[in-house]
Amino acid sequence: MPHLKVKPFDSQRFDAVVAKRDSVLKERAVCKKGPKELLLVGENGKEFILELKKKEKEWLLRCDSVSRPLDVELIKRILASLAKEAGLEILHSNIESTRERVTIASRYDKKIDDFEKGIFPYDRVALEVGFGSGRHLLYQAGKEPDRLHIGIEIHTPSAQQVLRQIALRKLENIWVLNYDARLLLEMLPSNLAEAIFVHFPVPWDKKPHRRVIGSSFVSEALRVLDIDGILELRTDSENYYRYALEIFSEAKRVRFEVKKNEELPVVSKYEARWRREEKNIYNLTLYSMEKSPQREICTDFSFCAKVSSETIGKLPPDSLVFDEYFIHFTRVYDRVYSKGYIVEVSFGNFDKPEHKYLFIEEDGSVNYFPSRPVANKTNMRAHKKIGELLDVHQ
Ligand SMILES: C[S@@+](CC[C@H](N)C(=O)[O-])C[C@H]1O[C@@H](n2cnc3c(N)ncnc32)[C@H](O)[C@@H]1O
Repeated sequence: MPHLKVKPFDSQRFDAVVAKRDSVLKERAVCKKGPKELLLVGENGKEFILELKKKEKEWLLRCDSVSRPLDVELIKRILASLAKEAGLEILHSNIESTRERVTIASRYDKKIDDFEKGIFPYDRVALEVGFGSGRHLLYQAGKEPDRLHIGIEIHTPSAQQVLRQIALRKLENIWVLNYDARLLLEMLPSNLAEAIFVHFPVPWDKKPHRRVIGSSFVSEALRVLDIDGILELRTDSENYYRYALEIFSEAKRVRFEVKKNEELPVVSKYEARWRREEKNIYNLTLYSMEKSPQREICTDFSFCAKVSSETIGKLPPDSLVFDEYFIHFTRVYDRVYSKGYIVEVSFGNFDKPEHKYLFIEEDGSVNYFPSRPVANKTNMRAHKKIGELLDVHQ
């Protein structure tokens, strides 16, 4: 990931920078505990956060993992501009591109908010969970140009790589979301998709709670699948195959099909490796056999009233655990150019938490950054509790 190591400096040097009209720096916030600052940066309305970590001999400036954009060139450009604007003395940098630059297809880089409206520009939709190198996703999109292919990948470099491939291949029918697929599924409309592909998910034999496939994933997948739609699992792990078979068997009004060593026209990197090792490949396909009712979900994650400095001071430092969710206010930052705060917070389901910033403005109003949480019941309950703890009304 692009970063700069710079000679320690007086960070008030940023104050003159932020006052300039077209500066990339928009806001600075200082951690209440520890030598860390957050810098809100951006250009043309695309904003994200850089962390400034202060060690004795060098300071590290890099993008945070919560708001990191997929466009690496944008991160490099912003780091270079900021260093120039503030006159930083660079000790080490990796922001000079050595490779030929291929811009990512940012039109197809989607955010959670893009799914909230429930508008999809194609009649036919397929999803791919954890597309990795993207070979299968790109192949499917080329083969089925009348279908929208939504790829959801939690690993940022894989999502970046596929967005570059989309630009090179000039494909128009792919959306890429860099997020936890288990969360996204819960906010998609019912009967949307004709296929959900899950190929070679990480088996997580020692931490099964991290597996993509689980009972709630399967019931959400069946709701999102249209009648006759398929959930296709492909795995080289006999253990995972047996585990998934058990979960698929519990589903109602479905049928499923099992195949061993079926060859597909496209072979992913993982599959190629397993084939070289002569491992068995299991294919488990679950067919949805009925339409699902639409589900009412509340998408209003706003806070209306104001936060006081007193309530900020009283935020509990440890995780708060409730029935089906938790809340952890990880760090609080004082904003330098206003009387507001930035609060780093994790919350929601224990296995698939959300990580966000709460931007608390000078007038006390609060917004999630970089995007609102996925609209599901657990997040809504956590959101309401966050509101109570901040002493605001929702
Ligand atoms: C073993 S790789 C397989 C990649 C690809 N499907 C293939 O066949 O080559 C599993 C992929 O799933 C992604 N992944 C794991 N958990 C995920 C989740 N909850 N949501 C989205 N992607 C996930 C990982 O980042 C990784 O790229």
